[in-house]
Amino acid sequence: MHSRKSFTVIGVRFFAILLVLFADGNLAAQEVRLVHLQVEHLPSPLGIDQEHPRFTWRFETAKQGFKQSAYEIYVNSDSLATQRGEGNLYQKGKIVSDQTLAHYDGSALKAFTKYFWKVRAWDRQGNVLESPVSSFETGIMQTANWKGSWISDGQDIHVKPAPYFRKTFTPSKPIKSARAYVAAAGLYELYLNGKRIGNHRLDPAYTRFDRRNLYVSYDVTEQIQQDKNAIGVLLGNGWYNHQSTAVWFFDKAPWRARPTFCLDLRITYEDGSVETIVSDKTWKTSTGPLVFNSIYTAEHYDARLKQEGWSKADFNDSTWKEVFYRAAPSQQVVSQTMHPIRNVKQLKVKDFKKLNDTTYVFDFGKNISGVTELHIQGEEGTVVRLKHGERLYENGHVDISNIDQHYRPTDHRDPFQTDIVILSGKHDHFMPAFNYKGFQYVEVTASRPIILKEESLTAYFMHSDVPQVGTIHASNPVINKIWEATNRSYLSNLFGYPTDCPQREKNGWTGDAHIAIETGLYSFDAITIYEKWLADHRDEQQANGVLPSIIPTGGWGYEWGNGPDWTSTIALIPWNVYLFYGDNKLLKDSYSAIKRYVDHIDALYPSGLTTWGLGDWVPVKSKSPVELSSSIYYYVDAMILAKAAKLFGKEQDAIHYEQLAGKIKDAINAKYLNKETGIYGQGVQTELSMPLFWGIVPDDLRAKVAKNLGERVAADNYHLDVGLLGTKAILNALSENGYADIAYKIAAQEDYPSWGWWIKNGATTLYENWNIQSAHDISLNHIMFGEIGAWLYKGLGGIKPDPEKPGFKHVLIEPHFVEGLESFEASHIGPHGKITTRWERKGKHIKLWLTIPPNSDGTLTLPSGEKRTLAAGSHEFDI
Ligand code: BGC
Repeated sequence: MHSRKSFTVIGVRFFAILLVLFADGNLAAQEVRLVHLQVEHLPSPLGIDQEHPRFTWRFETAKQGFKQSAYEIYVNSDSLATQRGEGNLYQKGKIVSDQTLAHYDGSALKAFTKYFWKVRAWDRQGNVLESPVSSFETGIMQTANWKGSWISDGQDIHVKPAPYFRKTFTPSKPIKSARAYVAAAGLYELYLNGKRIGNHRLDPAYTRFDRRNLYVSYDVTEQIQQDKNAIGVLLGNGWYNHQSTAVWFFDKAPWRARPTFCLDLRITYEDGSVETIVSDKTWKTSTGPLVFNSIYTAEHYDARLKQEGWSKADFNDSTWKEVFYRAAPSQQVVSQTMHPIRNVKQLKVKDFKKLNDTTYVFDFGKNISGVTELHIQGEEGTVVRLKHGERLYENGHVDISNIDQHYRPTDHRDPFQTDIVILSGKHDHFMPAFNYKGFQYVEVTASRPIILKEESLTAYFMHSDVPQVGTIHASNPVINKIWEATNRSYLSNLFGYPTDCPQREKNGWTGDAHIAIETGLYSFDAITIYEKWLADHRDEQQANGVLPSIIPTGGWGYEWGNGPDWTSTIALIPWNVYLFYGDNKLLKDSYSAIKRYVDHIDALYPSGLTTWGLGDWVPVKSKSPVELSSSIYYYVDAMILAKAAKLFGKEQDAIHYEQLAGKIKDAINAKYLNKETGIYGQGVQTELSMPLFWGIVPDDLRAKVAKNLGERVAADNYHLDVGLLGTKAILNALSENGYADIAYKIAAQEDYPSWGWWIKNGATTLYENWNIQSAHDISLNHIMFGEIGAWLYKGLGGIKPDPEKPGFKHVLIEPHFVEGLESFEASHIGPHGKITTRWERKGKHIKLWLTIPPNSDGTLTLPSGEKRTLAAGSHEFDI
């Protein structure tokens, strides 16, 4: 084997860069570009509440071995002064460091202020690089800065129609800029002069409403007129006023009340003065066509009740009623600082069938989370029902029996996943504002004959709109399809918090989320969602450290399913975010919560073994002891805590939790490991792979246990025999211990039980059950068996973060050139840029191409154990 520079690859890249530089006209200085400036992990965010926001940046260059040696950050409220590096508020001067993440700690930031910032960096030769100027804008910053009051229409929780609110105003002077800040308990849509503001969906994101409420900021300068304006707000129930009834009792949530909002529309005039239009008693309210909305089930819309122009200035609101003041739902109203939910992709109809004059079935080709949009004209009063589901009966009708099991309707007025539209007789248009569903098929039925065409219905794939940062491409198309299905399920389950499924529950199931954390982070830039969700964890944690199994919760889940195998999210999510981003803020913010959690288990289970948990959920056939799997997660939490303690200089804690972890490990091995045979428990797949993957096996027995696992899998005919916890471990346990070929064999299976079996049967998402005929636990859009998505990056591409230098500052590359694959490519854009592994089989040899991003380096470990140091840049190997 030899290593050399790839002239072809580098040559092509260099040419591309020349083109870019030529266009910029500044060739020498621009050879390295300082790019991707973000604040709080978002590009030019609006409404930042943090006193010490985080700045991040990266470099773009094809130069081998590029490293930053120092940086300086400029922050100013004047963009030109920032450009010139004057009047710097950041005050830290030049910092000798190769880090590209810094916390603002200059003079106190003011609320409602746009700040400009840029980075000047030095490379190791002392060359200076300047970034373009970027910006961020602060929001309300302190609760005392709110001017508006919380208002509602004064109705009670049982009233079905959604409240509409409006107010008119006329700006007194020429406008320079305007911002709308809206906090809501429930959901809202904001309108100005007849137009909806922004493209977010389901704002604000779900929180534990009686503990923390989110507000959203919008730049509305363009939408405000110099003369008379109208502002409109439509409120939805969301999880705040859950009227549908299901087994988790959200209808009994302690926070439940009629939706309410608080709004500040802050107008800055040309002369610098400010006027704030606020929510108060001057607003008026009415109901309208949105006659029912449930985040869980569906939405009902009576087009006959539409009030044309309700958010326009000239609308006659004389019949509208007065509004009521309301107490704030919680004392904490903070900015929603994350990628919003959007209608991200539009899906066209793949198959369209008219079953009869009143019944049509639409197939959108892919299973998704989201909504459909209907355009229709029919006789006034016609009732149209749109039933959304993931399966069809043989007779072609939509089957929702796999997803409505936990729904407990009290009557027939609120059918599951079924929007109801009553036609006005004119052209009607409907898309739910405050609901989403999980579906591939829609059955439209009408009370009178209607005419629908393919174009009558459009589907939108809706989810938190996190940027994609990973790609996989394998010579085996089944692997590519599994990866696509994994991503589709991951995104279908990301709505400002990770969920288990977008149809039956929409619950923030903790276990499913930590299983999917690596899968998520390899493919998507989702840090902002997890930071928000861990704040939800802190809101939900009881004084004794206990967490509920679903987060947020209305109370359900403190009594069931919340052992360490599920609620270890409190440690695993911050730890993985730290590994992937090199940003320890979330870990720091979660530290005391993790500690309380671990201490609680320690107090309850002084032996180090715990039976608290659900165990290997939805297994193929073999069952593993709950005590083994739960104790392993308990060990993992104690280890993460010990590492975090070390990182934050808490020496005593570090020693204490390392000892605790040691005790747990010893207790597990004493009870479950047969040291003679190298077998844990009965030796089934989960029992062998969990201890291997989570670092429980004593070093001198690793090879033996791994060999036993390999043999177990061979005896199982290279098929899975695991549930949710085993799935997380098995492929990694094999590929990390010399059995990558066996791992791949399992991963690429196309018959039962396997991921490929689902694909072969038409799956476009991951399922909840290996057995596709199962009568229960058979949602077709679960992420809980999704670890395979991460394993493709790790086990085949070999891309891993180094815990010693997290955030891919030092990239570990350990590819496996497995039998059965001709070529494979994995890429991940980390904090420093794109990491790529690509390999191709050439006869008996392997050609390997690697890219290490600027300002980082890496180590390649080959299957033989041989290691190579990798500088930033492109590398090519013949093996
Ligand atoms: C959910 C799962 C969850 C499980 C826990 C199910 O109903 O859909 O994904 O982890 O319950 O028991």
